[in-house]
Amino acid sequence: MISYDNETKIFHLDTPHTSYCMALIDGRYLSHLYYGERIGRSDLTYLLRLHDYILPPSERPDEMATFWDRLPHEYPTEGRGDFRETCLGARNAGGLLSLEPVLTDWKIHREKKTIPGLPASFGDNAQTLEIDLTDKVSGLALQLFYTVFQDADVVVRSAAVRNGGKAPIYLNRALSACLSLPEGKGKTLTFGGAWAREHMPVWREAGYGGTISESRRGAPGHSGQPFMGFLYDQGGLYGMHLIYSGSYLAKLDMDSFGDYRMAVGIHPDTFEWKLETGDIFYTPEAVLFYTPLGTEGMTGILHDFYRLHLIRNFKKNRPILINNWEATYFDFDKDRILSIAKEAAGLGVDTFVVDDGWFGKGRMQPSGDLGDWVPSKKKLPGGLRDLSAGLKALGLKLGLWFEPEMVSEDSDLFRVHPDWVLHQEGRAPAKCRDQWVLDLSNPQVREYLITSISAAIREGEVSYIKWDMNRMLSDAGSSFLPPDRQGEIWHRHILGVYEIQEQLLALFPNLIIENCASGGARFDPGMLYYSPQIWCSDNMDPVDRARIHEGTAMLYPLSAIGSHVSKSPGDITGRTSSFRTRGITAMFGCFGYELDITGLTGDEKSQISRQIDRYKELRPLFFEGDYYCLHPIGEKDRYQVLEIVSKDKQRGCIFFFQALSEANGRSLRVRLKGLSEDLCYEIRGKVYRGDALLKAGIFLPYVKQDFYAEIIAFKALPHPWT
Ligand code: DGJ
Repeated sequence: MISYDNETKIFHLDTPHTSYCMALIDGRYLSHLYYGERIGRSDLTYLLRLHDYILPPSERPDEMATFWDRLPHEYPTEGRGDFRETCLGARNAGGLLSLEPVLTDWKIHREKKTIPGLPASFGDNAQTLEIDLTDKVSGLALQLFYTVFQDADVVVRSAAVRNGGKAPIYLNRALSACLSLPEGKGKTLTFGGAWAREHMPVWREAGYGGTISESRRGAPGHSGQPFMGFLYDQGGLYGMHLIYSGSYLAKLDMDSFGDYRMAVGIHPDTFEWKLETGDIFYTPEAVLFYTPLGTEGMTGILHDFYRLHLIRNFKKNRPILINNWEATYFDFDKDRILSIAKEAAGLGVDTFVVDDGWFGKGRMQPSGDLGDWVPSKKKLPGGLRDLSAGLKALGLKLGLWFEPEMVSEDSDLFRVHPDWVLHQEGRAPAKCRDQWVLDLSNPQVREYLITSISAAIREGEVSYIKWDMNRMLSDAGSSFLPPDRQGEIWHRHILGVYEIQEQLLALFPNLIIENCASGGARFDPGMLYYSPQIWCSDNMDPVDRARIHEGTAMLYPLSAIGSHVSKSPGDITGRTSSFRTRGITAMFGCFGYELDITGLTGDEKSQISRQIDRYKELRPLFFEGDYYCLHPIGEKDRYQVLEIVSKDKQRGCIFFFQALSEANGRSLRVRLKGLSEDLCYEIRGKVYRGDALLKAGIFLPYVKQDFYAEIIAFKALPHPWT
């Protein structure tokens, strides 16, 4: 899969359908050569344009600035004259450094390496190329890692930077990867949105000035994804997705000759890192992919890769849950929880997730108690043990909500440890949702959180936690870190989140963590490593949710998308929809309920067990199958058609959702995808040839109804016409 040719000085990496090639110039400098459809090994050095418009340094050692400015460097660095987006920048006591890393060694490892403190992809049948480079003057030593897997069309990259000098060095940028792409017209793909409108795809013409997707909030936020895609007009989509949950920068820029540079990594604006002699800094991983099949190819590659190589055991222990947030908000006690649980018992629900408000003094609005992770005597007088026993008697397990990274002013935690809050001397930190952010760079804070959350998990025999985060970082100052490490707070915060989640999973191996951040503000690949499912939006209205699911599923497998049936009219849109439609639209993810089911009509209640049975029957398909968006609803369209096909092409289903019916309309025709041409499929009692469904299509039901949803299942039959 990975080789180095001593003659041509080319590193050549293969995935099942792509090749990634780099060249060494003068035996020292690492240049990108090619990434795209798989090609055989040959002398590709002509792609370097040496003597054409790049002068080899060996020939003009006195004229290096042009070389730095034009070469498609693999891991560009600051200071020598590369004026595009670079990956590495640093300073020392003498000021900003100019860096010239040159090759010192390389190795091929027959495995995927882990990264200390960070989430990382994993898997057998992997090879990792390590390229070592050193900047002689500063002593900075770089290790670039490239992993390819036998069963995935991705190249996973990361870097490690070591201070091999004699004095401290401060990194001010350390991106994960950069990719050079040749000229050609095309569009960038990024994601935008807002609270309750997350993960909307955004297409933009690529050109001078570039496209940036970024967050400087401490989490990706509602309006972004740590992702950059670039689709050439003639076809062929390149992308980078960062396995990271903090502030990020993703950029595609065009240079004066029309070539592109794409780069992703930790956002340099909220980053500085001090390296003492011998210290190493590890960047997060970036997942790079190329597909000639556009967004459909991208979705298939990323779904498979995340299911097999990032989410640890993506099928394990997934409950059907009921959550009380939209049922009660803060207004609940043990009796209220048990009254809802009684209705849910016996219908197929496994877990009751008690949301915000069960702890401290039992807050009734978002104003106090965060940090005091002990059961409220007012709401749960018998504690978590008693609540858990009550649920167990009904056949349900207990799940609990936490917001571990936060503290309220009105909390015992803050009264005892006022210095544990992120703040700057002489200024009260800005509150948001009446709360402050804890200083997770301080190991005592992390220890406190692990101890208090574990105690609650033990007391309540908790099988599931919802980890929420309802405000972004501000006033980033730490009483724990010394002055010259204050720039590390943003990255240390997210390292702290990772460490706490990892330790909780080590203490409770069967625990499921559902990540959430005010809806979908921290829906990123980093979180998937700890949390197999993520709450993708607070908006459960079926029309909006169809849009949000569609954007989210462009990158993430359905097994990762938390999805609940809520009330009608919905609290966020005020829109009225039927229980049936809400049930069907919530099935394309990790299914659950989030409403007061004691108030449902008899007919609605009777639908619950039928919905759960249907979901359980289809879940293997949703979780493991190939997903296709046959007709996007986008931000404006009136209907959506999705399809899922099992890997063996024996089963599948079509999801049809009509937000608005069409006057003087007729049934819609869709061409299916992913089927076998050699099989026949039975759909609603009729038999169709696979090739007919793929090439000619099928008609969907014509329905004069708004907010209409239907799942049409199909299965393969032996071919009756052969
Ligand atoms: C925001 C989450 O997205 C909601 O689901 C809910 O848990 C609230 N926070 C609770 O405060």
